[in-house]
Amino acid sequence: MIEGKGTKTKSGMLRFGMVGGGTGSFIADVHRKAALFDGQAELAAGCFSSRYERTLETGEKLGLDPERLYRDFNEMAQKEAARPDGIDFVIIATPNHAHYPAAKAFLQSGIHVACDKPLTLRVEEAEELAQLAEEKGLLFCVTYAYSQYPVVKHAQQMVKNGDIGDIHVVVAEYPQGWLATAVEQEGNKQAAWRTDPEKTGISNCVGDIGSHIENTVSYITGLEIDELCARLDVFGGEGRSLDTNAHILVKYKNGAVGNYWCSQVAIGYDNALTVRIFGTKGTIEWRQEDPNYLKVVKLGEPIQILSRGNPYFYPEAAQMSRIPSGHPEGFYEAFANTYRKFTNALLKLEQGLELTEDDLDFPTVKAGLQGVKFVHKCVESSKKGSVWVKFD
Ligand SMILES: NC(=O)c1ccc[n+]([C@@H]2O[C@H](COP(=O)([O-])OP(=O)(O)OC[C@H]3O[C@@H](n4cnc5c(N)ncnc54)[C@H](O)[C@@H]3O)[C@@H](O)[C@H]2O)c1
Repeated sequence: MIEGKGTKTKSGMLRFGMVGGGTGSFIADVHRKAALFDGQAELAAGCFSSRYERTLETGEKLGLDPERLYRDFNEMAQKEAARPDGIDFVIIATPNHAHYPAAKAFLQSGIHVACDKPLTLRVEEAEELAQLAEEKGLLFCVTYAYSQYPVVKHAQQMVKNGDIGDIHVVVAEYPQGWLATAVEQEGNKQAAWRTDPEKTGISNCVGDIGSHIENTVSYITGLEIDELCARLDVFGGEGRSLDTNAHILVKYKNGAVGNYWCSQVAIGYDNALTVRIFGTKGTIEWRQEDPNYLKVVKLGEPIQILSRGNPYFYPEAAQMSRIPSGHPEGFYEAFANTYRKFTNALLKLEQGLELTEDDLDFPTVKAGLQGVKFVHKCVESSKKGSVWVKFD
């Protein structure tokens, strides 16, 4: 049984802290706003940077108590765990290399974790975190937030309900163009750590965006990878050692096949994650850059474009929608849906209630581990000359 600390603020909100998210960083601010979106949590503590003066600067801007601004995440985990009003969960949005030590520190201190992807640099580290969370009875969300768009949920429900029959082919891609030149040598901070193996891990492109393909396909289809065959290439900048483009063929356990492409050197593309799923009775296609719509083609019928917020959406998807159709929802709302489910589950725990499978319908540490395994299998296949490798 997972137990909450029962130390919520008067307003009944959860408290959270952040690791990462200093001035000039990218995704931590999305996390922060998304976690605040539904009024179920408030920011109480932070270690926003590995440089203390940066943490102080950010903490002051956010109006935090200076006592709760920390020099490093270990100090933050220990001191917050010791406070009667300590944080209920932490959000980790640092470059990849700090995910594992930070997540471990908070789990060991009895604090629930939400961490960005790829979860860790090594498979064993992700396994250890999964085990630790289970032993401690703590919730662990890994923010693969694309799965939390209402339209993606509807696609998942269509597959579950057999609307497109048995899946036989998946084609998915995530092209970006921002690393077409060596911007890491021109002061682009995000590019600098992503192209550095010490900070990003054994893969750049597959870890950064290929893992989103793996997660989104797996979430929609429920298909499990049996084997894969990958070719990773390094394009777009002198002196780079990590992949910026990858082609991956997949065989699933049910006999279906898949074809994934991710690239950071595809000039003209921003965040063009597209997933096409072909079944025996029809096809569905979802594009992250136009996330309110789902293309559906049933065998022998004309093309349909489903629009989020309409009554024909499955209830599981409809409840994730926030505003009427035609008023676009996007990235922030998908992130906020992730946090709504995560904080709903935490609040249930605070009340001593048991969690159902539905309560845990957010990407967990299991999805995080799966993502890290995927990255490693792709690298292994490519290094061996693009041979088929077993996934398990
Ligand atoms: N889920 C998504 O859609 C998504 C999107 C973008 C990035 N990400 C992931 O989010 C993470 C951050 O990416 P980003 O692009 O925002 O990076 P970033 O470089 O913009 O920000 C990283 C922040 O972490 C801070 N930091 C670094 N080491 C630290 C430490 N030891 N303690 C405290 N703070 C520390 C930096 O000072 C900076 O503020 C990465 O793991 C990335 O893969 C996920």
